Amino acid sequence: MRALFFDEIAEMSRAMAAEIVRLAREAVEERGRFSLVLTGGRTPALLYELLGNPPFASDMPWLSTWIFWGDERCVAPDHAASNFRLAHEPLLSRGFIPAENIFRMQGEAVPSVAAHSYEERLHRFWAASNKSDAVPAFDLILLGMGNDGHVASLFPESDLLLEKNRLVAAVEEASGEPPVPRLTLTLPAIALARRIFFMISGEAKKGIFSEIKRDPAKAARSYPAALVRAQGEISWFIAEK
Ligand code: 6PG
Repeated sequence: MRALFFDEIAEMSRAMAAEIVRLAREAVEERGRFSLVLTGGRTPALLYELLGNPPFASDMPWLSTWIFWGDERCVAPDHAASNFRLAHEPLLSRGFIPAENIFRMQGEAVPSVAAHSYEERLHRFWAASNKSDAVPAFDLILLGMGNDGHVASLFPESDLLLEKNRLVAAVEEASGEPPVPRLTLTLPAIALARRIFFMISGEAKKGIFSEIKRDPAKAARSYPAALVRAQGEISWFIAEK
């Protein structure tokens, strides 16, 4: 676990953008492509704007970058609460990334159908790769965290925290903020990450991070974030405000 501390979200976002560019170029060099899982919520808004503009936009290997989501609200893609829209406006609408490289979760569809369909699309993506990248994996997953310690749309005390097989699930009951049904990667899917970047800000979330760092086993009883595992390093980007 690596932790980096910043005074403000702007400084944190710039540091993350630089690291994402570096990881992307390494992944394309080593495996021919970079698979990036985006998070929702408010925290990543500036990061997506930075990635969509110079200097970061021109340094990213966009044509070899594949975009996925960690979760999505069950709303239309142009809805104000859509995680797709959150990334589309500042970044994906810029046209750097081929449309076929963008794997949008279909928030407008029946949740259980959309979850199953997304999981099938993930397997097809991994199968249709060159030899060195044929294994189910994501090069980098971005994760926010709620003030209750939720990640993606995996909320405290959810039965989904026990899921061992499915990679994508529907959260049928209205959950989170806004309280709507959702689609989410499960913990086994998140664990396919070669690297994970958490991005959090504020005292409450910083306090949860400290509890996770101090006693992961105890924190895992309360916070889904403490259950997150990855194939490689988990980095926490933490902004004071
Ligand atoms: C979502 C997000 C969720 C988010 C946290 C933090 O769809 O709501 O994926 O997991 O990352 O709720 O959100 P903020 O960045 O707005 O605090």
